[in-house]
Amino acid sequence: MSEFLRKLFSSDFMPHGYCYLWKPEIVWLHAASDGAIALSYLFIPLALVYFVRKRRDLPFHWMFLLFGLFILGCGGTHAMEIWTLWHGTYRLAGVIKAITAVASVTTAAALVPMIPRALLLPSPSQLRVANLALERENAERRRVEEALRLAHDELEMRVQQRTRELAAANAQLRAEIDERLRAEQELRKQADLLELAHDAILVRNLNDRITYWNSGAEEVYGWRREEALGQTAPNLLRSIYPSSMEALKEEIVRSGRWEGELTQTRRDGETIVVSSRWALQRDENGQPAAVLQINTDITERKRVAENLVSMQNQLAHMARVTTMGELAASIAHEINQPLAAVVTNGNACLRWMALAEPNLDEARAAVTAIIKQGRRASDIIARIRALMKKSPPQMKQLHVNDLIREVLILINHEVQRNRVMLRTDLTEGPTAVVGDRVQLQQVVLNLLMNAVEATSAAAESPKEVLVTSRNEASQVIVAVQDSGVGIDPENSNHLFNPFFTTKPHGMGMGLAISRSTIQSHGGRLWAASNPGRGATFQFTLPAQVSVPAA
Ligand SMILES: Nc1ncnc2c1ncn2[C@@H]1O[C@H](COP(=O)(O)OP(=O)(O)OP(=O)(O)O)[C@@H](O)[C@H]1O
Ligand SMILES: [Mg+2]
Repeated sequence: MSEFLRKLFSSDFMPHGYCYLWKPEIVWLHAASDGAIALSYLFIPLALVYFVRKRRDLPFHWMFLLFGLFILGCGGTHAMEIWTLWHGTYRLAGVIKAITAVASVTTAAALVPMIPRALLLPSPSQLRVANLALERENAERRRVEEALRLAHDELEMRVQQRTRELAAANAQLRAEIDERLRAEQELRKQADLLELAHDAILVRNLNDRITYWNSGAEEVYGWRREEALGQTAPNLLRSIYPSSMEALKEEIVRSGRWEGELTQTRRDGETIVVSSRWALQRDENGQPAAVLQINTDITERKRVAENLVSMQNQLAHMARVTTMGELAASIAHEINQPLAAVVTNGNACLRWMALAEPNLDEARAAVTAIIKQGRRASDIIARIRALMKKSPPQMKQLHVNDLIREVLILINHEVQRNRVMLRTDLTEGPTAVVGDRVQLQQVVLNLLMNAVEATSAAAESPKEVLVTSRNEASQVIVAVQDSGVGIDPENSNHLFNPFFTTKPHGMGMGLAISRSTIQSHGGRLWAASNPGRGATFQFTLPAQVSVPAA
């Protein structure tokens, strides 16, 4: 064996060319063919190695390498065939062939069990079908992915929209909370203000239970808040209403508010008068829920006002008495006239009765005249007594024309004494008003007295006074126009002031009393200079639906 290895590369045998008798065509045919085969067998493994390296995913790629090794071995044997044509190196040729044989057997042995597994590998057509199915699947997947993407976009859009809506709702909620906080603060401020008010402010629910009571109410009524809350308002305050409670409740539910005067009782038992203003409060559904009541104690104010009215009445009475005093001579003369007529007619009556044949007709006529004149005198006295009497005002329906005529009787002699020409132009239409007869007579008397005085003080003649009455736009208007001294522009703003007078013995109360009387009757009194001479004083009174003259 060691000899075999030692002589492995020795060419001690006869070259193969001898077998071909060195016939060049046979030698070179073998040499060229073996050369071509050996070159091909060299390139095929190289190609296989290159292929396997490029396709690492190839199944059974070790088989390709085994093939490469086996073909390389075959190429080696053919190369040795060329060599042994000229050299007898058959030991080496045998070893190379043996190596090739091992590689071939190994390859064959490995190939056989691999065949069934290789058969399981899909064929190209199967792969094409599978590929097509895969492509379809891919297309389907892409379509699903697209649909999913669209759905995702849609979802994204909706989420964004919802987020925006939520943000808007959140902002609105925050604004509402801010607004509610602001309103609460406002309410608290208002409640603090209510606490500052001097008026009694209370809220009562529809069962009249008190639910709010401010410190003003504590002050006015003397009941503390904890004592008043939950009490029934009319019972606690012992309220006396101008009409029935039911009527008031109806009114407040209908119009939402009510105003009027109530008489109530304080905790200490003192009776007070309050000016009360009510406002209905409604719940969020618009249903009546409570009544807010603001009560101002006007007891003192009313007492003062009543005192003032009584003082005004006293003053007016005093002024009337004074005027009557001034008119005493004229009035005496006025009464004297009917009395003189009574005496004359009495004497005449006696004469008619004393005849042998008493003339009863003439005597009856004389007695009738006596009665008439007696009545006239008693009428005048009755009017004077009424004017002098101190009685509270009585508002009744009366006719302005009657009023003027009654005053004219009282002033008649004064007019004549002053040589004043007094004319009247009284409307035929209705002159009904509601008022106090004595007070209104005093107004007409004052104006007529002033007119007579102004006229007689004037140097120029004629001395004229015109009294007119007319009915205009639901008002009765009375005007006293004179041709007197007229109004000095300097005094025009003071004429109606109390105690303003330009007369040496005047009191200056006539016009002041007259204006307050007319105003308390709902009318107006004013003065104006005439275009020519003198002045005109006018007053209005609200006209009443006419009733037949008494
Ligand atoms: N018809 C008139 N023409 C001009 N001036 C007048 C007339 N009536 C009133 N006055 C002026 O107005 C003043 C106030 O009149 P008023 O009647 O209030 O008081 P009086 O007449 O002076 O006094 P009395 O209290 O006695 O009436 C008068 O003094 C007079 O100056
Ligand atoms: Mg006067």
